[in-house]
Amino acid sequence: MTDASIDAARYGPWAVVAGGSEGVGRAFATQLADAGLNLVLIARKPVALEETAELCRARGVQVRPLALDLTAPDSVARVIDEVEDVEVGLLVYNAGANTHSEEFLDGDLAEFQRVIDLNITTPLALVHHFGRPMRDRGRGGILMVGSKASSVGSVRHTVYGGVKAFGKTFAEGLWVELRESGVDVLELILGVTRTPAMERVGLKLDVPGFEAADPEDVAREGLAHLGDGPVRLAGEENQRSRAEVVLGVHHMMKKLFGDPA
Ligand SMILES: NC(=O)c1ccc[n+]([C@@H]2O[C@H](COP(=O)([O-])OP(=O)(O)OC[C@H]3O[C@@H](n4cnc5c(N)ncnc54)[C@H](OP(=O)(O)O)[C@@H]3O)[C@@H](O)[C@H]2O)c1
Repeated sequence: MTDASIDAARYGPWAVVAGGSEGVGRAFATQLADAGLNLVLIARKPVALEETAELCRARGVQVRPLALDLTAPDSVARVIDEVEDVEVGLLVYNAGANTHSEEFLDGDLAEFQRVIDLNITTPLALVHHFGRPMRDRGRGGILMVGSKASSVGSVRHTVYGGVKAFGKTFAEGLWVELRESGVDVLELILGVTRTPAMERVGLKLDVPGFEAADPEDVAREGLAHLGDGPVRLAGEENQRSRAEVVLGVHHMMKKLFGDPA
């Protein structure tokens, strides 16, 4: 699969990457630039944002970096202003890591609200804004980045797991609603991925026997499978059918019970 596996005629001429400065977001941005899409890149920290913008411009596309906090009340209006004069055929909503990793009763409600705004309030508004003209044009794509935390409750992830579960269910419903419109919807679910955000929070990613995913790989996989929604769990190891999983467990259990067959 080449980086240019995404079709610029179908998903261009402009893409918005919310959370497009580093890690998975930078990989989305550069791969979309390789495919010839012009980009609006959004993140808070201007330096990384400008570095990514330069990497993309060097690939020959136009880039508009937009430094803002997607949890700010005026963020959606600012994004909309930025793209008023261009046609957006792809929305990638990547920002959304847990920003308040506390046990629920000991945490700060206002901080939990920011996790909700980053993962629910703002993406809903952006999908609503960009999805309608995509549907009218009969083409486009909406890719949202989810997390394995959506499938199981865990300590310090009460709110984060909840918003990611919302995202997955929302993507499934939106996919059904748009499935005959020509607009692709995909929730790309990540497991632990080696991003700067994860390194900053001090996750120990070098535990023997554990391999964190690579941002370039998961972004490439998401873009290549944009049309295979509603949900894709990233990683080849996650593509086994339920039958393969069941048979794998079955053979392992037989070995554990000493059955040589
Ligand atoms: N990394 C993992 O192990 C992992 C695992 C499962 C799921 N995921 C999901 O993958 C996505 C990317 O995660 P990540 O690890 O790269 O961390 P992240 O903190 O979501 O950062 C991704 C991008 O979003 C930007 N961003 C973050 N908060 C923002 C805000 N409030 N306003 C504007 N931009 C913002 C970051 O730049 P700035 O910091 O400069 O704003 C960066 O460009 C998230 O949705 C996360 O839930 C990640």
